[in-house]
Amino acid sequence: MKSIVILISGRGSNMEAIVKACAAEGWPARIAAVISNRPDAAGLAFAASHGIATAVVDHKAFPDRASFDAELARVIDGYTPDLLVLAGFMRILTPEFTRHYEGRMLNIHPSLLPAFTGLHTHQRALEAGCRFAGATVHFVTAELDHGPIVAQAVAPILAGDDEAALSARVLGLEHRMYPRAVRWFVQDQLRIEGGRVQQLAGESQSFS
Ligand code: GAR
Repeated sequence: MKSIVILISGRGSNMEAIVKACAAEGWPARIAAVISNRPDAAGLAFAASHGIATAVVDHKAFPDRASFDAELARVIDGYTPDLLVLAGFMRILTPEFTRHYEGRMLNIHPSLLPAFTGLHTHQRALEAGCRFAGATVHFVTAELDHGPIVAQAVAPILAGDDEAALSARVLGLEHRMYPRAVRWFVQDQLRIEGGRVQQLAGESQSFS
């Protein structure tokens, strides 16, 4: 039975999709805790109402990234996770933190990486005239929004799309893709070889 800790900063809809899939599909895993850097993160209420431990490590209470990350890691490690899942966790992490969880920390980013790292990904895809947008699940490394890619979802950009319409279309795909990627991890189906992810279950790593 693997132990999963999920980090959120806000709504937590990806966390919710993972919690539901874990229960519905009977994964060999449990969600040990949901931790937020913001006390007002809406997702905390969902986690608590599902009997999941919650914690807040408020980044505003720390003078720098290093001290915040150190306290966050201390709280996370209290749950002895096999996997750390970033689900809309909007903090840049220090190299010490990423090294500590190397090979056992996943993130979802709302673009087809390596395009559009950083913020406002959908708006930037619209402004660039892209015909497709999407999202990527990847292992986290020290370099922001890089790291071995586990799965990608692609959505068309349609005439008349604005940021809200496009992000809603991509979010629907995120909710299918992220639980699948987490399940692969807990089933020991992911191997990183030469900086790339091999997925041994033979299921498609592409979503659309
Ligand atoms: C998701 O779209 C996720 O891809 C994005 O934030 C949203 C969180 O939604 N993540 C990032 O931008 C990370 N850089 P949620 O809180 O409802 O899961």
